[in-house]
Amino acid sequence: MKNITCIEDLRNLARRKVPRAFFDYTEAGSYSQETLRANRADIERIKLRQRVMVDVSSRDTSTTMLGETVSLPLALGPVAMAGLQHGNGEILACRAAHAAGIPFTMSTLSICSIEDVAAAVDKPFWFQLYVMKDRGFVRSLIERAAAAKCSALVLTVDLQVLGQRHVDIKNGLSVPPALKIKNLVNMATKPGWVFSVLSGKRRTFGNLDGHVKGMRGVQSLAQWVGSQFDDTLNWKDVEWIKNIWPGKLIIKGVLDVEDAKLAAKTGATALVVSNHGGRQLDGAASSISMLPIIADAVGSDIEVMFDGGIRTGQDVFRALALGASSCFTGRAYIFGLGAGGEAGVAKAIDIIRNELDVSMALTGIKNLTEIDRHNLVQ
Ligand code: LAC
Repeated sequence: MKNITCIEDLRNLARRKVPRAFFDYTEAGSYSQETLRANRADIERIKLRQRVMVDVSSRDTSTTMLGETVSLPLALGPVAMAGLQHGNGEILACRAAHAAGIPFTMSTLSICSIEDVAAAVDKPFWFQLYVMKDRGFVRSLIERAAAAKCSALVLTVDLQVLGQRHVDIKNGLSVPPALKIKNLVNMATKPGWVFSVLSGKRRTFGNLDGHVKGMRGVQSLAQWVGSQFDDTLNWKDVEWIKNIWPGKLIIKGVLDVEDAKLAAKTGATALVVSNHGGRQLDGAASSISMLPIIADAVGSDIEVMFDGGIRTGQDVFRALALGASSCFTGRAYIFGLGAGGEAGVAKAIDIIRNELDVSMALTGIKNLTEIDRHNLVQ
């Protein structure tokens, strides 16, 4: 990973190495991508207060997430089809996260199965749940996560209906990859990817294959979500989920104060302020603009995590200053995965760690608990 100094470098490398349909899938936002752009633009507007002449010789980036010690206030968030960015992508990302001392969240829509990852790593990971119409299947997914000793369930609440991403339609994105001439020509220029994916365990949704009726054959994500996901999902269902999963629960995809209060009322351990990386409701507010309002509204009733546009350690610092106790990142590590497998994910985490550490030094901060709105230029 020589000459890789920032997440943007990993992105550029991933763009060269990963077939276009899968790279675009990661990068895209929905519709006009207004919310996708707002996530970044609003983060960049937040200015940090430079402070000098403070003894910052003993800095510490560690904290806790859900009561567990982590080396960095960052979790690898759930990303569908990581195993099509690089063969066995979920296993590699989980290993890199564990080696770095941070949590990895496995998506329901992973290529590796829960069992594949559990067998390949030696520490617990988090499992992200999508609620499908077949509740028997949802129950079995939760039970499989428990059997695999997952240490938290991340319930995604902002994607029962899929926001359209134009590029996915134009690229004919499907799982397993459709063997159309255009795709094959593009894949032929990515021999490293072809080798890694062909030597990976699977090329279709590992958690669902053989379990969900009517999912055989090549399908688009939109067809998938439309036919399988349950759009009746509502707050009462959280009770049902908690009965099956008594462990730590994270509600991901909250962008509104009223919803944040309702999430806190469910007794969940944490909520994630998120607009699904600008991939769902286009025209929604940026995640960072809603973070301080939500953090103030729920106070200490529930742990507040942040997701939406994290590309640097400075961004993590900004989210902490605005009331998050920790962050999720998706694209930043997926670029690392596409660029260089496990080493690429490790690099992404390392880049963010170093940036956070230097930002702490230059703002006069030794411990993350000291960070608050006073560290921002008002
Ligand atoms: C997405 C879902 C599947 O954003 O998480 O594509």
